[in-house]
Amino acid sequence: MADAIVADRPMLLDRLEAKPTDSLLALIQLCDADPRAEKIDVGVGVYRDAAGNTPILRCVKAAERILLEGQETKAYLGSAGDTRFVELIKPIVFGDNPSGYIVGVQTPGGCGALRLGAELVHAADRQARMFVGQPTWINHGPLIGCAGVEMIDYPYYDKASGAILFDEMMSALGQTRAGDLLLLHGCCHNPTGADLSLDQWREVAGLVSERGLVPYVDIAYQGLGNGLEADAAGTRLVVEAAEQAIIAQSCDKNFGLYRERTGSLFVKTLSSRTAEAVFGNLLSLARTMWSMPPDHGAAVVRTVLEEDALRADWRSELDDMCTRIRAIRARMAAFDPRLAFVNDQNGMFSMLPLTKGQVLELRADHGIYMADSGRFNVVGLSDDNVDRFAAAVTEKMDG
Ligand code: LMR
Repeated sequence: MADAIVADRPMLLDRLEAKPTDSLLALIQLCDADPRAEKIDVGVGVYRDAAGNTPILRCVKAAERILLEGQETKAYLGSAGDTRFVELIKPIVFGDNPSGYIVGVQTPGGCGALRLGAELVHAADRQARMFVGQPTWINHGPLIGCAGVEMIDYPYYDKASGAILFDEMMSALGQTRAGDLLLLHGCCHNPTGADLSLDQWREVAGLVSERGLVPYVDIAYQGLGNGLEADAAGTRLVVEAAEQAIIAQSCDKNFGLYRERTGSLFVKTLSSRTAEAVFGNLLSLARTMWSMPPDHGAAVVRTVLEEDALRADWRSELDDMCTRIRAIRARMAAFDPRLAFVNDQNGMFSMLPLTKGQVLELRADHGIYMADSGRFNVVGLSDDNVDRFAAAVTEKMDG
């Protein structure tokens, strides 16, 4: 469309600068537009089956049928969302007997939870500081920093060697002071797949308790690393050790609900008075951002978790997804010793020691779509293309 006649004075919106599209989400369109049949989509984090599809889980379809027949109203639920959903998710994350008071609300996906948590922190302390391991998910900075929380980097992972920089991390965290927040990936680290060992989690928990830090845990892939319980073990250790903690949870991946935006935010404190104040603040902050979260995804999860048969089917579908991810990791590692690290990592992602230029060459020459950082979605691969992918990337690693 041709520009209409532009007035001689700039109008309000003319002052906006153009913004680049989010580089991860842009990969979806870029890959879709590529006509090559042999293209490989290992960009954004969605599960794919052996045929390359992202199916709706059986248990989700069954719950949707139940809702279609039985749901009687679409009336508002309030800013806390579906409180029964939150009650059912809580033991999945924290186990049956967590200490302290844990309050929670439903949020629009893990992103909503991360943002709401950051707003809560900022409301509590305008000078709040959050220590963030690098590299981290590219949306952590925008989501959390946007709320006004200062973010301080600490080293986490060395892309060249594929190793966690645990000593460097612990030494950087020596600069923290009581009340500082510590951003941690509960499991299936995004973008590296490199999770702390249980012993390392214990050391971090010790530091949290000794220094009075507030863990800020992002747990968006529970069940896709080594199983539901194992994937929550580190989170439970640090939350138990902390006087206060904030946990952003997502069902987008482990229930395959992506676009339904289904998550929750939990906050632990040791005082019932503080817990009550936290809950009130969460409701009022949510009200200013989205008023109430979308219902459908949470209603589906609630329906699955309330029915024994559906819950069991969910566990088995989740285990199947996890097994497939582990099988592809093993296959990559078997292809070349330089890819052995992939088998030691968890969840959907690992990060290859490639430059952005090499990533772009792989895109142009082989139709391989991965994030600029070298992060690739392991489960975007299938039996048909995993060797071709491994051959192309190792050739690039040769230089
Ligand atoms: C990813 O990292 O690919 C996913 O979490 C999707 C997203 O929102 O970035």
